[in-house]
Amino acid sequence: MPATLAAYPATRLRRLRRSAQIRSLAQENTLAVGDLIWPIFLRDGYDVAEPIASMPGVERLSIDRAVRAAEEAATLGIPALCLFPYTDADRRTETCEEAWSDENLVNRAIRAIKAEVPEIAIMTDIALDPYNANGHDGFVKDGIIVNDETVEALVKMALAQADAGADILGPSDMMDGRIGAMRAALETAGHQDVAILSYSAKYASAFYGPFRDAVGASGRLVGDKKTYQMNPANAEEALRLVERDLAEGADMVMVKPGMPYLDICRRVRDRFGVPTFAYQVSGEYAMLEGAIRNGWLDGDKVMVESLMAFKRAGCHGILTYFAPRVARLLAPSF
Ligand code: PBG
Repeated sequence: MPATLAAYPATRLRRLRRSAQIRSLAQENTLAVGDLIWPIFLRDGYDVAEPIASMPGVERLSIDRAVRAAEEAATLGIPALCLFPYTDADRRTETCEEAWSDENLVNRAIRAIKAEVPEIAIMTDIALDPYNANGHDGFVKDGIIVNDETVEALVKMALAQADAGADILGPSDMMDGRIGAMRAALETAGHQDVAILSYSAKYASAFYGPFRDAVGASGRLVGDKKTYQMNPANAEEALRLVERDLAEGADMVMVKPGMPYLDICRRVRDRFGVPTFAYQVSGEYAMLEGAIRNGWLDGDKVMVESLMAFKRAGCHGILTYFAPRVARLLAPSF
């Protein structure tokens, strides 16, 4: 006990828990709508909202419906959307050209959303998996996920997304050298104000399962992602990855998954002090939502508690599929 704490009964820590008003004054952290990034899934078509079985309550949206979602987000005060595509089978190849096509689903959606809801920030995902015939984030040659060729493709992807109007690029691929290569290419192309939120400490996690269903990568993935995503047993390595990405020009960093990795969030925040994000990933959503739908957990309460935990762990913001539902529970922060 620190010396500043008097002995009982002078110190009664329950005094500051006595009423909602007193608790509010003594509260150390807050959760606000302005902390949230809402990930949404896209698919082709018109007026389509297709359910995803392993993520109950989340749908793949056609672009027109994604524009409506952006309007809803803006009304609620959510600062940013993050876009993920479900690519049709005939556009998934080993060479992944669709990933940097100006006309791919994500780039068309960015333009459509920016035309109608210009104020909302748009974050993207940079990795080849939604476009790759074998489900990997990089090119596969002779069974190896090749680094440097993949980085060249990721740079093309980044430039196409920036041209379409993306505000925040989210490289989620875990290749080495990609942040520096993207930052240099963005500068040269006149996109010096496009931010990079690097998925710096991204673990090879089983909690991504429902996401892979959502983007149609589950059945395709050959092997696993352990040669590029992190070993869940490691923590020091996460700090090296964050340091490296910041040195290469990342503006913000992410820890992913979220709830099982709150120790990493805290260490990154304490060591670097830069804008730090966590991704409450699809498997975390599925666990909570499954229990909520069964009546085993109180939805409103666990949503807020689980997200507050990220703030307490030092995160500035959270990517969460609960974003619109939580936003409706909280007063907008701006
Ligand atoms: C793609 C990517 C993944 C997620 C975000 N971007 C899956 C993966 O790496 O296999 C997971 C998000 C989630 O589970 O909600 N590189």
